[in-house]
Amino acid sequence: MASRNNGFDSDCMTLTRFVLAEQRKIPTATGDLSQLLNSIQTAVKAVSSAVRKAGIANMYGLAGKENVQGEEVKKLDILSNELFVNMLTSSFKCCLLVSEENVNAIEVETEKRGKYVVCFDPLDGSSNIDCLVSVGSIFGIYKKLDEPKESMVAHALQPGKNLVAAGYALYGSATMIVLSIGRGVNGFTYDPAIGEFVLTERNLRVPPRGDIYSINEGHEGAWDTVIKEYVRSKKYPKSGKAYSGRYVGSMVADVHRTIKYGGIFLYPATKSHPTGKLRLLYECIPMAYILKEAGGLASNGNIDILEVVPEKIHQRSPIFLGSRDDVQEVLQYIRKYQS
Ligand code: AHG
Ligand code: MN
Ligand code: MN
Repeated sequence: MASRNNGFDSDCMTLTRFVLAEQRKIPTATGDLSQLLNSIQTAVKAVSSAVRKAGIANMYGLAGKENVQGEEVKKLDILSNELFVNMLTSSFKCCLLVSEENVNAIEVETEKRGKYVVCFDPLDGSSNIDCLVSVGSIFGIYKKLDEPKESMVAHALQPGKNLVAAGYALYGSATMIVLSIGRGVNGFTYDPAIGEFVLTERNLRVPPRGDIYSINEGHEGAWDTVIKEYVRSKKYPKSGKAYSGRYVGSMVADVHRTIKYGGIFLYPATKSHPTGKLRLLYECIPMAYILKEAGGLASNGNIDILEVVPEKIHQRSPIFLGSRDDVQEVLQYIRKYQS
């Protein structure tokens, strides 16, 4: 029995309901992943609330220290990290957490341990917080490896193709969670009136080609010639219309737009960041997984991001992601310059 009256759907598909329905499709599923995703949902709700009232609660600005990558840490970075760490630890479903904000991987205490490893960027785009531009959170979930390892951290150094699930939350004009558990990508918009994420974007697909390029153009002087050539070809095409340029500076927002509208997002290696800026484990890999599940591509310029075997938890990588044809085109440029 379902009805839709005055904008109320008496049978709406919430994120929790969706995950439970997916779980039911796998007879051997234990429900552990569903519980873990519930904890992430709670963390996202709390981060969203903090982002929305940051100005009033005196949460803007710097925390007065630098993180492991020597970047300034904002008050909201710290709060968001605490929320993710506490919600994940208390889910009893994780054994290891890798966060942008923690130098070392966090080993969950023995009595709270479960089988999952979660890598996350608790607040992405933090330079945009104080001016009210969209920010996000990113997460990737692995199963602990079966074979015993010398150190726990080895369980986090898995290639993206091993992911069990990945997603991001976007704190934009609305809050949305975009999630893939390996069977396509779905988007859930937060309805503050009922405190639930409601399925609004079923089976998201990135268009095969777009007409938007997204890159920090201020760094052009530090790009390789091939990147300059490629971007130039988008601005001054031999035929057809020039691409539009869009760059928010929050990866989550730039990637979400790329999925919705198509096109390409690039963060190449530069002179100051010879291995790129974005972090493999909790930025590039989860986003590559989502893109692939939505029919797009993500490469480091040489190989598929999901094939890269991480060596360090805070390792960086160049990234080119988006519509299949756009990514293939930039890769053709790169190959041409390599030969
Ligand atoms: P974070 O706030 O988690 O450190 O991430 C910032 C990242 C990412 O969101 C964005 O794509 C990129 O930094 C922007 O970098 P530039 O300012 O160099 O363009
Ligand atoms: Mn980030
Ligand atoms: Mn961050």
